[in-house]
Amino acid sequence: MNGKNILLGVTGGIAAYKAAFLVRLFVKKGANVKVVMTASAKEFVTPLTLSTLSKNEVFSSFTNEENDNAQWNNHVELALWADLFVVAPATANTLSKMANGTCDNLLLACYLSAKCPVYYAPAMDLDMYKHPSTAATFEKLDSFGNIKIPAAFGELASGLIGQGRMAEPEEIVSFIENDILKNLPLRGKKFLITAGPTYEAIDPVRFIGNHSSGKMGYAIAEAAAALGAEVVLISGPTALKLENDFIKIIRVTSAEEMYNAAHQYFNSCDVAILSAAVADYRPSQIASEKIKKKEEELTLQLTKTKDILASLGEIKKNQFLVGFALETENEEENAKLKLKKKNLDLIVLNSLRDKGAGFQKDTNKITLIGKDNKTLPFSVKPKKEVAKDILEYIIEQTNA
Ligand code: CTP
Repeated sequence: MNGKNILLGVTGGIAAYKAAFLVRLFVKKGANVKVVMTASAKEFVTPLTLSTLSKNEVFSSFTNEENDNAQWNNHVELALWADLFVVAPATANTLSKMANGTCDNLLLACYLSAKCPVYYAPAMDLDMYKHPSTAATFEKLDSFGNIKIPAAFGELASGLIGQGRMAEPEEIVSFIENDILKNLPLRGKKFLITAGPTYEAIDPVRFIGNHSSGKMGYAIAEAAAALGAEVVLISGPTALKLENDFIKIIRVTSAEEMYNAAHQYFNSCDVAILSAAVADYRPSQIASEKIKKKEEELTLQLTKTKDILASLGEIKKNQFLVGFALETENEEENAKLKLKKKNLDLIVLNSLRDKGAGFQKDTNKITLIGKDNKTLPFSVKPKKEVAKDILEYIIEQTNA
C-alpha cells in the first residue's frame, strides 16, 4: 500500500467509528488517504477526526457550501486520483445505490467515476445481510468487478448475533493487501538486476569509472518489485536510494565483484536484467600505494574485465536474460549482433544520438529488440515509464 492513493468512502452505520482506525492503518502503511463520507456517516464519526488522521480535507457534498467562496468538490478528480476506492462501512442503502447507479451524493458520484479497483466492507444487521435483495446487490456488484470484504459473525448493534459486523480494520487492510498481491503479474517471480557503474581501482585513491547514474536499473528494480517480483539489485557505486524496502540490495564496487554477485543469484532467478555500465577494462595492476606524479606521461596497462552478461548467456537455462546496448553508430545492427552473441532474450537499445537518452538523465529513449529480431521503438519517456515498458514486454513474453 506504500505510496498508493486510497479513497475511503464512509457511509452511515455504527461501524463508521472504525473508519478512524482504518484511516490510521492505511496511513501507517504509507498510503495517501482521502475520505469521502455521506451525510449520515457524519452522525457517527466527525469529519474533523478523519481529516486529522488522514491529513487531508474530508469531502461530503458537491460544494463546500458553508464557505462564502464555495467551490465544487470535483468527484471525477477524486475518483481518478484514487488507486483504490474502499467503501467501509458500506450500508445496505449505499450498496443498493451503487448496484443501481443512483447518484444522489458525492460518495456515489465518486463510485460511478472510479476506474480503480473498488472494495466494499458491508455492515448491517444479520437479517438485512441475509435478505435476497442484499444477495442480489452483492451479485450485481460482483459482476461489476467490485470486491466484497465479507462481514464478520458476531454481536450486532441490534443486540442480535449473526453475520453482518463490518470486518475489523486490520482484517480489511490485510484482505486488500492479499488481494493486491494475488493479482500482481510478477508475483512469485525472482528478478536479478544490475545497475550503476563499476569502479576499477588504479591505486588506493583513484579509479577508472563512468558517468552511469544507475537511474535506469533502479527504476526497473522499483517497478518490478511494485509488480510483485522478488528483486535482488546488484548496484555499483551510486547515490541513489531505494523506495521499496523489500528489494534486496547488494552493493559492489568493481566489475569482478559484480560478476561474483550476479553468478551467486543467477541460478535461482527467473529474469535477469543487466543494465549496469560495467567497465570493459581494469588496470592490470593495482598499485598498493598512491602513485606519485613524476614523469610527463604515465601509461596504465589495462586488462579486459569479464563480460557478466555473456557469461550468464552461456550458462542460462530457463532464465529470461536481458541486456542493454548503448551505441553511437549502426545501432540496430550492433544491438542485434550483441543479442545473438550473448544469447539474450531481449536487448534494450539506447542510442547516444537520441536527445533525452543516456547517462545521468531522468528520461530515456529505447528500442526493444527481441529474439525474433523484431524492433519495437518507444518515444522519449521518464525512466520510470521506460522501466514499465520493458517489464510489460517481459511479462508478455514470459507468459506466452
Ligand atoms: N556488460 C556486462 N559485463 C561487462 C560489460 C558489459 O555485463 N563486462 C553488459 C552491460 O550490463 C549491458 C551489455 O553488457 O547489458 C552491453 O554492454 P556494452 O558495453 O554496450 O557492450 P559490450 O558487449 O561491452 O560491447 P562494446 O563495448 O564493444 O559495445
